[in-house]
Amino acid sequence: MLTKILSAAHFGLKTIPIEVEVNIATKGFPGFNIIGLPSKAVEEARERVKTAIINSNIKFPDAKITVNLAPADIPKEGSNYDLPIAVGILNALEVVSLPKEKSYFFGELSLDGTLRHTKGVFLLAVSAKENSVKNLFVPNESANEAAVIKSISVYPITSLNDLVMHLNGTRVVKKTKYVEAVDLLEETPVEFDFSEIIGQESAKRAIEIACAGGHNLFMQGPPGAGKTMLARAIPGILPSLGEDESLEVTKIYSVTGNIPPGGSLIRARPFRVCHHTVSKIGLVGGGSDPHPGEISLAHNGVLFLDEFPEFPRSTLEALRQPMEDGVVSIARAAGSVKFPANFMLVAAANPCPCGYLGDPKRECRCSPRQIMNYQNRLSGPLMDRIDIHLNVPTVDVEKLAARSKVKINAEKSESIRERVVRARQIQLRRFKSEGIYSNASMKNKHIKKYCHLDEDAQLLLKQAVSNYSLSARTYFRLIKVSRTIADIAGESKIISSHIAESLQYRIRSTDE
Ligand SMILES: Nc1ncnc2c1ncn2[C@@H]1O[C@H](COP(=O)(O)OP(=O)(O)OP(=O)(O)O)[C@@H](O)[C@H]1O
Ligand SMILES: [Mg+2]
Ligand SMILES: [Zn+2]
Repeated sequence: MLTKILSAAHFGLKTIPIEVEVNIATKGFPGFNIIGLPSKAVEEARERVKTAIINSNIKFPDAKITVNLAPADIPKEGSNYDLPIAVGILNALEVVSLPKEKSYFFGELSLDGTLRHTKGVFLLAVSAKENSVKNLFVPNESANEAAVIKSISVYPITSLNDLVMHLNGTRVVKKTKYVEAVDLLEETPVEFDFSEIIGQESAKRAIEIACAGGHNLFMQGPPGAGKTMLARAIPGILPSLGEDESLEVTKIYSVTGNIPPGGSLIRARPFRVCHHTVSKIGLVGGGSDPHPGEISLAHNGVLFLDEFPEFPRSTLEALRQPMEDGVVSIARAAGSVKFPANFMLVAAANPCPCGYLGDPKRECRCSPRQIMNYQNRLSGPLMDRIDIHLNVPTVDVEKLAARSKVKINAEKSESIRERVVRARQIQLRRFKSEGIYSNASMKNKHIKKYCHLDEDAQLLLKQAVSNYSLSARTYFRLIKVSRTIADIAGESKIISSHIAESLQYRIRSTDE
C-alpha cells in the first residue's frame, strides 16, 4: 500500500515542502530503502525508525518498504524525516489514520520511540503558514518554537505511542498554547557592569554611540588597559530585539539548533565572541550542507573579535563583503544560499606585538618591521569599514586603587542602556518603511533623506574632508555616526558639535 506524508526540508533559510511517500509491498524480498537524494543522516533513519516502532510495541512489517523523498533533486539533510517516515509506515499498515487537513510531520526519533528536540521547527512553522498547512506534529521540546506563529495548530508529541493514540482519537494531545512575543523578554547574562570599570569615560561614551547606532567599533590599547573588559560589558547596554529583528534571528538560531529545548523566539540581542582560531567557514558560514557562521549568529547583534590582528588575514578579508552588504552568499551546486549577517563588529587589538607602542610610560620593544607586519594584517579596506576607532589608554593604577577603595559612582549599565534604547526607538520609527533598523545600515539614499546638517556642520565636514583627504566612504560613515550622536541627544538636525565628535573617532587612528 502507498501512502503520502507531508514534511519539509531546509536549504539555507528556505523551507521546501517534501512529500514522504511510503510503499509497503508484501511481495518480493523484505527490505527497507530510502530514495530521493538522502544524506547519510537520513539513511540512518531506517535503523531509528525500525527500532523505535518495535520498542513502541508495534509489529514491524516483514515486507519490502520503499520510502521516496520528493522532489528528488533537493538534498535532504538531518534527522527530521524520522517522524514522517514512521507515520507513513504506520499509516500504510493501517495502524493509524491521517488527519484530514494538510499537516506537517517533523522530528527525530530516539530508539525507545520518544521524540527528540529537532532543529528547524521555527522555520517549519513559518513555511506552514505560507503553504496553508493547518497542523504541525513536532517534538514536544521543539513545539514552543512553532507556537509563536498564529493560525496554525501545533501538536507537541512526546512519543510515537502518544501520536498513534492521538491520530486514532483514543487520547488527544493538547495543542501548544500560542506564545505572545512580548512575553518573552529574556535577560542577557552580563559579565561586567559598566560601573565596575573605573575611568575610561571617553571609551564608554564611544561604546554607547556604537551600540546606539549599530556602528562597528575598533579599540586599540596596551595590555591590561581594559579593552576586553569594556567589550564584555556591552551586552548590558544593548536593547532587546524588536519583533521583526527577533523573527530574523530566530530563523538562524532555529536552523542551527541554537534554540534550547522548550525555547521560543530569541529576544536578547546576540553577542557572539570568536577566538582567532576560528575557521573561515566557522566565521562566515559554508560547508557542503551550507550552514550560517558566527557573523550570521551575530545578525542584528554584536560580533566581538578580540586580539583582532591574530586572526588570519584571509579570514578577516572574508568579512569585507558581508560587512558591506549585511548578507553572506554561499555558492553551491544546488544554488546559492544567502544568510543575513548584519552585525556590529567590535574588535580589539594592541598597537604592536609587544603592546606598548605610543605608550607614555613604557617603551615599545618591537622593530619597525615587526610593527609594520602586525599592522598590515588589518587591511585598509577592512579598517575603512569601521566607523568608530578608539584608543584605550591604561588608567592610572594609583587612581584606580584609590577609587576602588571608596566606591565611586560610575554610571551603571542600566542607565546607559536607557539612552541606547531611546536612540534605537527613534531609529526604528525613522526607518519604519525602509527595511532597516539602525543608522549604521543607512545607504546613501537614506543619508540624503534623513541626515540634515545645519550650515556650520556642513562647513566643518567640508573642511575635514579636504584637510584629511577623507575617502567618500569615510565621509558617509562620519555622517551616520553624527546622526547617532544627534539621536542620543534627541535632536533632529545634525549640528557641528555632532560632526566634531564623530571626527574624533575617525581621525585619531588614521593619523597614527
Ligand atoms: N578601568 C578599569 N577598571 C577596573 N578594572 C580594570 C580597568 N582596566 C583594567 N582593569 C582590570 O585589568 C584586567 C585586564 O583588563 P583587560 O583584560 O580588559 O585588558 P585588555 O586591554 O584586554 O588587555 P590585553 O591587551 O592584554 O588583552 C581586567 O580584568 C580588570 O580586572
Ligand atoms: Mg584583552
Ligand atoms: Zn611594541
